[in-house]
Amino acid sequence: MIQLKIKPLIYKYDTVKEFLEDFEVGKNDLVITNEYIFNPEKYGIDCHVLYQEKYGLGEPSDEMVEDMYNDIKHVDYARVIAIGGGTVIDVSKLFVLTNVSPVLDLYERKLEIKKSKELVLVPTTCGTGSEVTNIAILELKSRKTKMGLAVDEMYADSAVLIPELLYNLPFKVFATSSIDALIHAIEAYVSPKATPYTEMYSIEAMKLIVDGYNKIRDNGQEARIAILEDYLIASNYAGIAFANAGVGAVHAMSYPLGATHHVPHGESNYAIFTGVFKAYQRLNPDGKISKLNCFLAELLNCEVERVYEELENLLNVILPKKPLREYGTTLEELEEFTENVMTKQGRLTANNYTELNREEVYNIYKSLL
Ligand SMILES: NC(=O)c1ccc[n+]([C@@H]2O[C@H](COP(=O)([O-])OP(=O)(O)OC[C@H]3O[C@@H](n4cnc5c(N)ncnc54)[C@H](O)[C@@H]3O)[C@@H](O)[C@H]2O)c1
Ligand SMILES: [Fe+2]
Repeated sequence: MIQLKIKPLIYKYDTVKEFLEDFEVGKNDLVITNEYIFNPEKYGIDCHVLYQEKYGLGEPSDEMVEDMYNDIKHVDYARVIAIGGGTVIDVSKLFVLTNVSPVLDLYERKLEIKKSKELVLVPTTCGTGSEVTNIAILELKSRKTKMGLAVDEMYADSAVLIPELLYNLPFKVFATSSIDALIHAIEAYVSPKATPYTEMYSIEAMKLIVDGYNKIRDNGQEARIAILEDYLIASNYAGIAFANAGVGAVHAMSYPLGATHHVPHGESNYAIFTGVFKAYQRLNPDGKISKLNCFLAELLNCEVERVYEELENLLNVILPKKPLREYGTTLEELEEFTENVMTKQGRLTANNYTELNREEVYNIYKSLL
């Protein structure tokens, strides 16, 4: 069994300028980004550009990709360079394919998936790890949920870390994205597909993220600026862990919530997270989770029995947890969410630490309402 696969080459630069020079960014490139994050003109670069924010706010959907595709389908480019958060990166992954549209057909595997361009991914948030994963996640509007297209054609050729790009990242996005990374590390750690190699990446990511949160709790939100590089590396590590071992029920249960009520991905994960792990703990306390709990107790300096309470206390300083009803979720909706998890999210639920049947999934949602 393969123990670890890291497809892209991983680069780090102190400045954007160094990256642009080293990668010789120019005429043959399609840069997909947000104008407020990166503007090629300011660097004197002549390339094709798509500013994602012109195609809709919030996280990516099939409709957003169709609109972007319409604007570039006649453009000739050899390389796609994405500079942005998970939204920009996931959308960009699709533009290396020969067949992009209809996007819904692509996600339902009715189109041939063939990569024909090079892909360079530069994350500007510290959460998704998407620069090292083979997944592109979209909200499929007509299907009322998010879905991941997970195929090797979605891997980047190069993943580039540039801490300078994160200096203007708002605290709320820092919070939601880094919590997403923490959950990638934790879900991958207890996944049945975890290996000693992926565990190492999970452990290092958890350490960097929790240590950083302790600093922010003690010294205030601005304390994050000095440790942004740690977070960029931690989300990359967590990405490597989950690209190999997968994430499970937290992500699966978060998708219908995120898509229905437009909750940022990391925030909807956090809303679900402890509910799932408390159920895991109750259903199968003696497996891998016991190792995780001991490790987290050490990191949080607390007793093992109090680990989820203490983790929630710390995370609440970074991003206050809300009950699902505050996002607009109703009791009636929970049946629909549960149905979605049981029938559409099998790619993820295959990685659950322990099996969660329909009743368990429903009850977890209900306990979080
Ligand atoms: N493919 C994967 O492996 C994977 C994994 C996890 C999550 N995701 C997906 O990623 C998306 C979430 O990505 P995200 O958490 O990175 O947030 P995001 O990309 O949606 O960004 C959130 C907001 O922050 C802004 N922003 C990003 N970087 C900035 C910067 N440096 N300075 C100022 N503003 C900045 C964006 O423009 C946006 O308005 C979701 O759609 C989720 O499903 C994908
Ligand atoms: Fe995630």
